[in-house]
Amino acid sequence: MPNITSLKCTTCNKEYQPRDIDYTCPICGPMRGTLEVLYDYDRIAKELTRSSLQKNQNFTHWRYLPLLPIVEEKYIQPLSLGWTPIYNNQALADRLGIQNLWIKDDGRNPSASYKDRASSVAVVKALEKQVPTITAASTGNAASSLAAFTAVAGLPTVIFVPHNAPKAKITQLLLFGAKVLRVQGSYDDAFDLCCTAAEKWGWYNRSTAINPYLGEGKKTGAFEICEQLNWQVPDYVFVAVGDGCIYQSLWKGFKEFHRIGLIERLPKLIGVQAEGASPLVQAFAAGTDTAEPIQTKTFADSISVGVPRDQVKALKAVRESKGQFIAVSDDEIKKAIALLAGKAGVLAEPAGATGMAGLMKMAQNSEIKPDENAVVFVTGNGLKDIDGVMQASEQQSVLVDNDIADVAVKLKLV
Ligand SMILES: Cc1ncc(COP(=O)(O)O)c(C=O)c1O
Ligand SMILES: [Zn+2]
Repeated sequence: MPNITSLKCTTCNKEYQPRDIDYTCPICGPMRGTLEVLYDYDRIAKELTRSSLQKNQNFTHWRYLPLLPIVEEKYIQPLSLGWTPIYNNQALADRLGIQNLWIKDDGRNPSASYKDRASSVAVVKALEKQVPTITAASTGNAASSLAAFTAVAGLPTVIFVPHNAPKAKITQLLLFGAKVLRVQGSYDDAFDLCCTAAEKWGWYNRSTAINPYLGEGKKTGAFEICEQLNWQVPDYVFVAVGDGCIYQSLWKGFKEFHRIGLIERLPKLIGVQAEGASPLVQAFAAGTDTAEPIQTKTFADSISVGVPRDQVKALKAVRESKGQFIAVSDDEIKKAIALLAGKAGVLAEPAGATGMAGLMKMAQNSEIKPDENAVVFVTGNGLKDIDGVMQASEQQSVLVDNDIADVAVKLKLV
């Protein structure tokens, strides 16, 4: 492991060597015992500098290799990911009454979601371990992302999704060649079933949070913001939250860049959940370090999570970052989908627009000052869930006769 020094338990702080452990701390268990990947930061600070990055022509997230847990680079799959566009939208910033707004479109990754950042790393780890099969439980995006990378790698893949996962995500999975198991239950049920199967048959488990390397891929979104904004760290970063893995990873990413001297301050991270799936919002409000399980109800399927698997790290991160977990209604998410599409040309799936809904809510409540700025992550493309996204449209298409006179009538031009 070139730059990794240890894997440290989030709860008891015991440190392990990567060769000795794959998932969570055996003393603290899968929920409290998630592991944090630690690196030799002093060494990396010499290697990864503003000037080395300026010269780096690799415009994928592998440009941050010294801070990624890769041992054998030959297993990196040739799908281009990361370095997603960041759009400055002054008109939207003015409308929301804030100084500046950037939209970071992670729907532009190969399988069209943020999850490609994690899957790209998981596949390398699976190939390094020479496992026969890889598995994952997912609301849909993590799975379809994993399947894209394993399609290229030729690695057998077994996926557990809730039975009602959106059709586009299932279609991606099938065509990428994964074995797809639609579980008659919730995502939380699919997660437990996947872990049982992985243990029973010795498959490598890419399910979120329990695998320490996934967050390593997910932190690169933070690195890119720093670089793309020319090292000016924004006041706020908004992102949708389900299991809490993206959230805690972004925080780790900002902290690591701060630790190696690339940025001078840290942003406030705002994690946004759907009201009907907001166990982390409730735990944050109650001041606890774990979340009570809940039954979920939201049209934002990707974040319909009742038992957030990365809850311990996420709740730690929110306090450290002086950020917040907030909840938005499904109607607020629909308004955010419409605004992102109608004013920024970015089509987001419901969870993909949830960060934006959080910003709209905080701006409306004057919780962000007029001289403050924000980055909003769009974490998934709208084409992944057309039925969900259609609910945000206030317009209907108009059927016309193949006749210019009828066009004039329907457009009220006569
Ligand atoms: C589009 C999208 N946004 C946000 C999230 C939330 O990520 P996390 O579960 O790491 O909190 C997910 C997770 O599936 C997702 O697919
Ligand atoms: Zn422990």
